[in-house]
Amino acid sequence: MSINPEIAKRRTFAIVSHPDAGKTTITEKFLWYGKVIREAGHVRAKSNRSYTVSDWMKIEQERGISVSSSVLNFPFEGCQFNLVDTPGHQDFCEDTYRALTAVDAALVLIDSVNGVEKQTIKLMEVCRMRHTPIITFINKMDLDGRPVLDLLDQIEEILKIKVAPFTLPIGVGKLFKGVYSISENTFHTFDKEEGRQEILKMTGPGDPRLVEMCGENWVSQFKEEYDVVTGGMDPFDHERFLKGEMCPVFFGSAVNNFGVRQLLNAFASLAPAPMPRETDKRIVSPGETDFTGFVFKIQANMDPKHRDRTAFIRICSGEFERGDKVYHCRSGREIRLAAPTAFLAKDKEVIDRAWAGDIVGINDPGLFHIGDTLTKGEKMNFTGIPDFAPEFFARVTLLNPLKSKQMNKGLAELSEEGATQLYQPVKSAVPVIGVVGELQFDVLQFRLKSEYGADVSLDRIPSFGVRWIVGKQDELEKFVSEYGMDCMQDKDERFVCLFPNEYRLNLAVKNFPDLKFEKTSV
Ligand code: G4P
Repeated sequence: MSINPEIAKRRTFAIVSHPDAGKTTITEKFLWYGKVIREAGHVRAKSNRSYTVSDWMKIEQERGISVSSSVLNFPFEGCQFNLVDTPGHQDFCEDTYRALTAVDAALVLIDSVNGVEKQTIKLMEVCRMRHTPIITFINKMDLDGRPVLDLLDQIEEILKIKVAPFTLPIGVGKLFKGVYSISENTFHTFDKEEGRQEILKMTGPGDPRLVEMCGENWVSQFKEEYDVVTGGMDPFDHERFLKGEMCPVFFGSAVNNFGVRQLLNAFASLAPAPMPRETDKRIVSPGETDFTGFVFKIQANMDPKHRDRTAFIRICSGEFERGDKVYHCRSGREIRLAAPTAFLAKDKEVIDRAWAGDIVGINDPGLFHIGDTLTKGEKMNFTGIPDFAPEFFARVTLLNPLKSKQMNKGLAELSEEGATQLYQPVKSAVPVIGVVGELQFDVLQFRLKSEYGADVSLDRIPSFGVRWIVGKQDELEKFVSEYGMDCMQDKDERFVCLFPNEYRLNLAVKNFPDLKFEKTSV
């Protein structure tokens, strides 16, 4: 089946990085290449964080960080890019993980000075689980970073993915001279002062002009690295890339707009168009004529003037037009998508048509849950949108008792957004919330007060970890009667146990060999 050209040109991706690696900076350059902004620097200057594209919520601006994901669209070289933003702060929430379920590829951004960092490792786990194709950009080559081979080694060892460098730098820091493109045999010159970039055709890594331009020492170091990369490493294999086993690697400097165009070109030519997606019934191919999609994120009160909720839908197949009726598989209801929106900065723009690969926002009257599937009538559910085990827990106590209805509504709605998980302890009426990053406690407290008028205190529960308990009903009941004090039910009434320490977890695993203790629930 030949695929609709509108779908074939879509590239939906996210950026995986640790805070400060340069995600915002490189996003600006992408938007500049896509001619969405006229000058880089428009999106955000650090001195005035309130211009950050995804700064929707007041708390984000107060904190100077971005906690919710947004979606940016831009055209480049015949492709239509959808960049799903991933919140950058280290206390990021489940939203970030879920954003990765909506993309077909990811850009892993690494700071050449710091190497592979903690948050990148966590996010890569999600990519690996989903076999997401990865392209890596090693940023800040204008600083005195780590040796090239060390960086490549770290990616292979820590991120557990084979590297296939497409370029190699010559020089580093103040003496960074540019990058050599291995496949094209070209040298891309870097000149920070003049801001000039040239692409020069070379006869090979031994071309004498390289020594003239970069000096003997840098070129001999480069040649050693070149020999290791071309002689000792597996050559790039597109199939392995599509399976998430091997990643092309590029070097550059986002702030100097160096190497960014090459990177985007690589995305356009190597990254996949929308990929087939699994459901509980069959695999859905993007080229099918019928529309299908799933909700991967819900956000309330994006516009403070209107109390609204927006559901973000990743379209998996077909196309749909504004006003189309779709089937909401969980409730069995037919709904009309009256005003789907595309997102850019704070402006929502109503769109008339969208295709597989696109992400659209629709007004949510309180109907949607994360993971919900929408089709043209077929009953099925997209799979693989996991709940991640939160790492921090707190009991929620209401401080103004007359607001209990508001608090319950707020807790339920905010947990449907996915940033927090809500649990009901088996032996207590006081609700417990769990979050992936501690900052979410502040976000929750702030939003309960400002959006629902409920003042709460959060009492932290020290714990080693939470596990979903899966198994036969009688075994489960036995477990709950023994571990009742630590047991709770999640939003789908599945049992979870909050283990205070590793010892108790190991003991439970030993005593209940027929039960599974799962870290994520799908
Ligand atoms: P993030 O979104 O991943 O958190 O990172 P962001 O783009 O905000 O970049 C973090 C810092 O790194 C910024 O500096 C930015 O200018 C700098 N940066 C990004 N790319 C490069 C690069 O290629 N080379 C160098 N030397 N620096 C880079 P800042 O001082 O924190 O902010 P600002 O005053 O520059 O705005």
